[in-house]
Amino acid sequence: MKKINIVLFGTGNVGSKLINQLLQAREQLRKREGVELNLPVIANSTTAFFQKENQQPSWEADLVNFGFPYKLRDVLEYVQQQGYENLIAVDATASEDFVNNYFSLIEAGFHIVAANKVANTRSSQFYLELRKKLQEHNKFFFYETNVGAGLPIVETLRNFHRSNERVTKVRGVFSGSLSYIFNTYCAEERAFSEILSEAGIKGFTEPDPRVDLSGKDVARKLLILGRELGLEKEFEEITIQDLVPSHLNGQSSLKNFQKNKKDLDPLFLKLKKELKQDEVIRHVGELDLQTGILDVKLVTEKRTSALGSLQNADSSFEIFTESYGEQPLVIKGAGAGAAVTARGVLTDLIKLAEKLP
Ligand SMILES: NC(=O)c1ccc[n+]([C@@H]2O[C@H](COP(=O)([O-])OP(=O)(O)OC[C@H]3O[C@@H](n4cnc5c(N)ncnc54)[C@H](OP(=O)(O)O)[C@@H]3O)[C@@H](O)[C@H]2O)c1
Repeated sequence: MKKINIVLFGTGNVGSKLINQLLQAREQLRKREGVELNLPVIANSTTAFFQKENQQPSWEADLVNFGFPYKLRDVLEYVQQQGYENLIAVDATASEDFVNNYFSLIEAGFHIVAANKVANTRSSQFYLELRKKLQEHNKFFFYETNVGAGLPIVETLRNFHRSNERVTKVRGVFSGSLSYIFNTYCAEERAFSEILSEAGIKGFTEPDPRVDLSGKDVARKLLILGRELGLEKEFEEITIQDLVPSHLNGQSSLKNFQKNKKDLDPLFLKLKKELKQDEVIRHVGELDLQTGILDVKLVTEKRTSALGSLQNADSSFEIFTESYGEQPLVIKGAGAGAAVTARGVLTDLIKLAEKLP
């Protein structure tokens, strides 16, 4: 039996779903794949729980009752003392800083699986240093959920790139929250601010919806895909259409934004009135490999087009390559949500486990 030891950092929406999915899949993985996925350490930003051998964690209670304040050093010492092999660190945090730990983790023998996009969207220098470190220590780094959550976008592009299939353009609705907002806004006669609030209640937007409206999250995804295809770009080089009016942007409080979000209504109503009957507004990311331009913007689409016919909070990625010609390969489906993201992380873990001795 191949034993894999996973240390999970982050027990929020994605991390908590992952623990449950992993525990449920464990028996089947043992039987079908001959792989045992163990979860000896679970940690959030302040507290860690070290699990005893063969203990089935009722992890929420255990983390609260038996967790203790920790430093990364404690985790590294613990796994070394226990003599754990086949170590994988899962980054299910949303932390800017946690990625600094990747270097120590790799040196301590960990492979990395990340839902967190930060490591792939920092400077090119960081991006390359991380890859150098991974190579030096013969370690893997999987991050399929960075773009499109559980949808197989990163791997598809990487496979094209590796097989020398020239990708010319990637275009799509990258954001589940903005997909929901514009799909609903163009289908119904309701104010933009009302639909924005509804998207928040349904859990589609970030607690501060300006994070979604700023286009930065979509830009991060574009950058990750561009770099996957060998494009050397920095985040600052991406052209981003910010949908938040300047008087409500990050300089002002979230409270001020929530109070005045009706100010968005006339701006979007104007755009809606300019549409022809068979047109809708969509929020797209576009990566043009021929010009090297990365663009995040609102566009007008025919209702019947692949992007124009999107529904709910679905994402859709169109990948144009030399062989596919005018007709892109389209990958479409739920591109956000804790359950599909956790499933994507679990899939990365299983794929990585296959590569280990
Ligand atoms: N939800 C999605 O649809 C989706 C899709 C693709 C990718 N992702 C990515 O998945 C990641 C997790 O998302 P989420 O929605 O689960 O976030 P979340 O609910 O905010 O949870 C974040 C977790 O990370 C922990 N954390 C923060 N800093 C940490 C540190 N330095 N060390 C250890 N743990 C730390 C937090 O601990 P505390 O509770 O102690 O603060 C919390 O448990 C994010 O990077 C997100 O961008 C999410």
